[in-house]
Amino acid sequence: MNTFADASPILSVGDTPEAPGTQISALPEETCRVSEPRPVAVIVLAAGEGTRMKSRIPKVLHPLCGRSMLGHVLAAAGELDPHRMVVVAGHGRDEVGAEATRYAPDAAVVVQDRQAGTGHAVRMVIEALGIMPGVVLVTYGDMPLLRAQTLAALVGEHAAAGNAVTVLTARVADPGAYGRIVRDERGALAEIVEYADATPEQRAIDEINSGCYAFDGALLADAVKRVATSNAQGQEYLTDVVAILRGDGHRVGAVLAADPGEIQGVNDRVQLAQVRRAYNDRLLEAWMRAGVTIMDPASTWIDADVTLGQDAEILPGTLLEGHTSIGPGATIGPHCRLTDTSVARDASVSFTVCVQAEIGPGATVGPYAYLRPGTRIGAGAHIGCHVELKNAVVGAGAKVPHLSYVGDADIGEGANIGAATIFSNYDGAAKHRTTIGADVFTGSDTILVAPVTVGDGAYTAAGSVITEDVPPGALGVARGRQHNSEGWVERRRPGTRAAARARQTAEAASAASGPPDGPALDEDEGAQGR
Ligand code: UD1
Ligand code: CA
Repeated sequence: MNTFADASPILSVGDTPEAPGTQISALPEETCRVSEPRPVAVIVLAAGEGTRMKSRIPKVLHPLCGRSMLGHVLAAAGELDPHRMVVVAGHGRDEVGAEATRYAPDAAVVVQDRQAGTGHAVRMVIEALGIMPGVVLVTYGDMPLLRAQTLAALVGEHAAAGNAVTVLTARVADPGAYGRIVRDERGALAEIVEYADATPEQRAIDEINSGCYAFDGALLADAVKRVATSNAQGQEYLTDVVAILRGDGHRVGAVLAADPGEIQGVNDRVQLAQVRRAYNDRLLEAWMRAGVTIMDPASTWIDADVTLGQDAEILPGTLLEGHTSIGPGATIGPHCRLTDTSVARDASVSFTVCVQAEIGPGATVGPYAYLRPGTRIGAGAHIGCHVELKNAVVGAGAKVPHLSYVGDADIGEGANIGAATIFSNYDGAAKHRTTIGADVFTGSDTILVAPVTVGDGAYTAAGSVITEDVPPGALGVARGRQHNSEGWVERRRPGTRAAARARQTAEAASAASGPPDGPALDEDEGAQGR
């Protein structure tokens, strides 16, 4: 899609020295390689209904920063390169399954018909896929802030300690209804107690279970079958596996998350907004550290799959969505929304909405332009105020400065499209294309009725409705000829201020220089573009 790709090399921010003005190909956090061993499986639990979202959309499909929650989780887990990705789906299983395979094409989707607990969910996976010997990571589809590095660190600690299970935990000021991490007198992990089952003393514990664990796959398969339902919620708790494995004499451990914010789950739309803000803050900080200026992080939203170039400048109120790419030195904003759009180096875009558009190097767009899918703006071209383009190619150095609609068109380089030119592309049944040659000048208020071609270097007269091709170098005039009815106001609007004014002006003129000349219409004076 990147027709106007920059010639400069792509390099990652980790490389030094950095060539000036290059596209930053990866954020610093994404350049970290994950640690050994490679997990045999990552199991993502995503069967819950998410009642508190009050939504027709399954909870894990709610988007933030350009991906669903599930998409973020699978992207992070995918960085560990597990042999197998497993998603447990229940509510909205078809949509959840489809989304899972979008991010992890080989993912196994295991259906859990009734949500009988996290232990039950994992048991369903093992019944469906068999015992998975090796490190099995379990996490949730509604914990999108959890980073690949954190997962990798958990796996690394788990393997180094030789544990049967290692729990990712966090110390938090308000432990709420999270499961509590209960340690023995020597400080070693003893068990996880759910809030509903906890004593007041246990509820006072401020170390909580994130719900993310590294397991020995073979031991997990055995232990999860032995989980009871004799608890306050009558569910199979995956958390019970910790005490079961410890009781069997295996090593169990806990790792504190360096950033407790990462384990924030999403249960309602208030938490969704909090998590979205946190994710956005993280991305913006990484981009700023990588050489992008963001004037007002609080009002700037950048999706996870956006790329930016060195010294790009993002002004307040701007949303960069989808696979948008911003070239080095480009200025975007204030108040832009760019979706799947590429902006080449040193271009500037202000107060503008773009969807699937390409903007060439040094081009200027806005304020108040709307670039719809299939719009490609050439190098150094200018798109001005209140201009809408769709499926239109604008050549290098061409200008569409004011109040125009350009649909289904090719505009040659250096052309000047006059104010309020309309490309009339739709006849009520089909869309047609208009071709404007290089260095064409269309007069203000030209209507180009497609299909039509205006040849290189041709002009159109202001106010023309062009229905036939204009040859190169010609002036196309297609409008009513002007006729002035002399003395009309005196005859038909006698006694008005206009009549008095006209008489006064005529008398002053005749006193100064004799009788006035009649007006003349010169046919070749029609083209007034600006
Ligand atoms: C669980 C943990 C708790 C931990 C908390 C962290 C258990 C018993 N408790 O509690 O210790 O502090 O997560 O958020 O594990 N799910 C399924 N199938 C089920 C049940 C749940 O797929 O049958 C999924 C849900 O969609 C959700 C995740 O597992 O993504 C957690 O389930 P939830 O019911 O929210 O667990 P909590 O009670 O919060
Ligand atoms: Ca929960």
